Amino acid sequence: MRRLWLMQGGMLVDITLTKTTNFQWRHLIADYEKKSEPIYNVRRDDKRKYDAIFVGGGAGGRFGSGYLRARGGRQLIVDRWPFLGGSCPHLACVPHHLFSEAARELDLMRWFSGKLWFPDATHLRASILQMVQLFKEGRGSAHAFMNWQSKEQLDLEYILNVPATVIDNHTIEVAGERFQADNLVLGTGAETVFPNIPGTDLHGVYDFVSLIEELDFEPQRCVIIGGSKVAIEYGSFFQAAGCPTTIVARKPLMRTASLHHVDEDLRQYVVDGMCKRGMQILEGVEPVAIKGDGNGNAKEVIIRNMQDGSEESLACDFVFIGTGERPKSEHYREVLGVAVGEKGEILVDKHMRTSVPNVYAIGDLIGPPMEMFKARKGGMTAARNIMGEPYEFDWTDYPDFLHSTYEITWVGLSEEEAKQRYDNVVVIQMPPKGVPHEDIPLPCAEGTMLYAFMYPELTGFQKAVVEGNSRRLLGFHHVGFGAKDAFQYLDYLMRQPEGITIDEMGNMNELFLNPEHFIQLCRLRAGSPNLRDL
Ligand SMILES: Cc1cc2nc3c(=O)[nH]c(=O)nc-3n(C[C@H](O)[C@H](O)[C@H](O)COP(=O)(O)OP(=O)(O)OC[C@H]3O[C@@H](n4cnc5c(N)ncnc54)[C@H](O)[C@@H]3O)c2cc1C
Ligand SMILES: NC(=O)c1ccc[n+]([C@@H]2O[C@H](COP(=O)([O-])OP(=O)(O)OC[C@H]3O[C@@H](n4cnc5c(N)ncnc54)[C@H](OP(=O)(O)O)[C@@H]3O)[C@@H](O)[C@H]2O)c1
Repeated sequence: MRRLWLMQGGMLVDITLTKTTNFQWRHLIADYEKKSEPIYNVRRDDKRKYDAIFVGGGAGGRFGSGYLRARGGRQLIVDRWPFLGGSCPHLACVPHHLFSEAARELDLMRWFSGKLWFPDATHLRASILQMVQLFKEGRGSAHAFMNWQSKEQLDLEYILNVPATVIDNHTIEVAGERFQADNLVLGTGAETVFPNIPGTDLHGVYDFVSLIEELDFEPQRCVIIGGSKVAIEYGSFFQAAGCPTTIVARKPLMRTASLHHVDEDLRQYVVDGMCKRGMQILEGVEPVAIKGDGNGNAKEVIIRNMQDGSEESLACDFVFIGTGERPKSEHYREVLGVAVGEKGEILVDKHMRTSVPNVYAIGDLIGPPMEMFKARKGGMTAARNIMGEPYEFDWTDYPDFLHSTYEITWVGLSEEEAKQRYDNVVVIQMPPKGVPHEDIPLPCAEGTMLYAFMYPELTGFQKAVVEGNSRRLLGFHHVGFGAKDAFQYLDYLMRQPEGITIDEMGNMNELFLNPEHFIQLCRLRAGSPNLRDL
């Protein structure tokens, strides 16, 4: 097989004219992860100028390229990794979803320990190290698929396994060779910001990247710094695996500036659920230092109470940093002079144009929200504009989610936000306000049916927020499983200029047992001319 690939003296791999398979890609990528030579898929015989060069072939760069090519344009992606797809399948979203699914399974086993057909899970311990290994051994299939699909199905051109250096707003340099395009699209992502405290370099301190690339022991006691998605998702997994976990956060969990529209009742349900599962959550505290054991291993985190200044030591062998990410924009600022914001995010307009003509920026590089929908749709937006179709993307509002051992989904206004804006706010909620959850095994559906019959209070939470006069639905909030799909479409419906009313929702056809129960609950109230809470 090697002969198929090493076409130019064993150094430069040019696969442009070679039909590839997923299987071949898996081997080639594994081989090239250890090397620094580029992999070329570039049509040298095509003399047309590139419409765009995408610097970075992550979610944004690959989707933007796909769209531009589908519109008949010519594109080139350059990525420093030997595969396309970026951080999501390599280090971020995909391992997070694998760990979150493990957390959900483990959680079920713990609650049902010794009941029904479940074995005794009193001493259940799942290996975090083994889960990391499982992911690392499997992630190559996603990498291979993206390279294969991009070349064989989407007809994209790319150069992999080599960084691009930007020379000017039409030119990049790759492995000593210059390439020119009418436009550049910058999509090189973001990286973890470590807190500025002593000890972050000790063995035992990880972020989501080094967890995957470097974990070399089985953690026994974890402290997480941060109070947002990464902290909650990874913390819930570590705890469910049997590694006691403490979260250290400056603000109440989920109340960080990067998350908006978080409903307080939903938040309480999530945080209470984490505490019920044995997690320790310390809010209103800041990290002061991570201290070692004298052999270079982390052994405690010192925290300070932000109200009274008192300090406390938290013993651990594993510190996980969930303090957010910062765009990697320095190179572009220096070379191109692109305007950036306070946190280094490249500033763009709704067409994804930067302050420099013919230079676009997309994805995590333009700052929060750092989410896949924004990266992919940003790439598509840049492509459309480059291909002459004026198109605007507004990412200020969007459906959002995270995992604890549950899937937590929300879109639109929280109850508190709605009450600040409107006089007549009606809420449809399960369990209803003031009714003990132990008496109401709802909202239950696939994933919480077992809980419904044994632990009703673990079935989740839901809320729809309605403007009582216009009857328009303003927001939806859900804790449970399987509602994410519905939220994508709810977001779309709510965004229509006329919105969606409780009456229209009640007129939909539900599939019993639908995870979020919104349709039938709306129907129960829709008959009334004067809406009331349910
Ligand atoms: C732990 C974690 C979990 C997440 N889970 C989710 C989730 O469940 N759902 C969700 O919507 N979002 C999730 N996200 C966010 C999501 O991963 C990002 O928003 C998304 O990957 C950003 O895509 P991007 O194209 O901007 O950047 P990336 O995918 O990071 O791509 C950037 C690319 O640029 C390349 N590059 C960098 N420098 C150079 C250079 N000089 N030359 C050439 N190439 C270069 C890199 O190799 C990389 O391939 C998660 C993030 C984290 C940290
Ligand atoms: N969709 C998903 O499921 C998903 C999953 C994971 C990640 N992501 C994305 O990936 C990005 C990173 O996520 P994230 O959860 O790490 O970041 P984040 O949402 O930016 O939150 C960072 C957290 O760290 C805290 N923090 C920041 N600096 C700190 C310091 N010096 N000391 C102590 N605490 C500090 C913040 O607290 P303060 O509020 O006090 O500043 C906040 O709680 C986000 O943009 C997120 O949207 C998405």
